[in-house]
Amino acid sequence: MRNRNAQLVTAARLARRHAHAPYSKFRVGAALLGRSGAVYTGCNVESSSYSLTICAERTAIFKAVSEGEHSFEAIAVVANTPEFTPPCGACRQVLLDLAGNIDVIMSNARGITSVVKLRELLPRAFSNKNLLKARRKR
Ligand code: THU
Repeated sequence: MRNRNAQLVTAARLARRHAHAPYSKFRVGAALLGRSGAVYTGCNVESSSYSLTICAERTAIFKAVSEGEHSFEAIAVVANTPEFTPPCGACRQVLLDLAGNIDVIMSNARGITSVVKLRELLPRAFSNKNLLKARRKR
């Protein structure tokens, strides 16, 4: 597990090099481990129309799903800051929808890591279950 986490952090750090963040200058890398053993990396890619920016985490999971991977174990997220970088709210929702309650490994600039379950970051989440229940009532 330690080794798995360390490998994902290394992959996220490499992915961070590709970050396109001319506006915020805040560069983020992510690495998502699929059940198949494949690792899907991502970085943030910003737009001049700021809100169209995509975070590293969503880049990684959209890459994975678009390549046919649908089960996941863990995601590492790194930025070059003293603090850990937790996934933003939008990424928490998308990750929970598509990957379920995976491990979220956050690593700071010094390589110190913190691991939490995604559900700890997004308790009482909205999900497709809410949609299904609403549909049954109609
Ligand atoms: N960002 C990520 O890529 N992941 C996070 O977990 C937090 C925020 C990006 C979005 C934007 O390009 C920049 O960091 C500043 O918010």
